[in-house]
Amino acid sequence: MENKELIRLALEAREMAYVPYSNYMVGAALLTKQGRVYKGCNIENAAYTPTNCAERTAFFKAVSEGEREFAAIAIVGGYEGAPKDYAYPCGVCRQVMMEFCNPAEFRIITAVSEEQYVERTLAELLPEGFGPDNL
Ligand code: THU
Repeated sequence: MENKELIRLALEAREMAYVPYSNYMVGAALLTKQGRVYKGCNIENAAYTPTNCAERTAFFKAVSEGEREFAAIAIVGGYEGAPKDYAYPCGVCRQVMMEFCNPAEFRIITAVSEEQYVERTLAELLPEGFGPDNL
């Protein structure tokens, strides 16, 4: 699948963001190695800490459906309206990616639009990460 299409799906997912506290809307589209896509949005909570990021929503949906092999994730974030800046994944989400993805291969696409994006590997965003291979 083209990055452009994965970003389009992340933008679609962002529309579902439940963000009454921060108003910061994030969407993610996670591509499996077999070509399926799982979408996720951030889901906030009145107690704040139970908040789930868009990336983890997408991962947990996929893993709970039996998926274990992932190729890429597109992420878009920002306040209402078109995204203005790149929304990089938080440290907790990078660690969740580390559990299921090959850091040298897994692609993280942060986008402001279907045309404008930055692509990094997980190894670039989480150098010397700790993962299943360390145990
Ligand atoms: N958020 C994400 O969904 N993904 C990230 O990687 C960074 C932060 C969400 C959590 C919270 O709902 C809002 O953005 C502001 O932190």
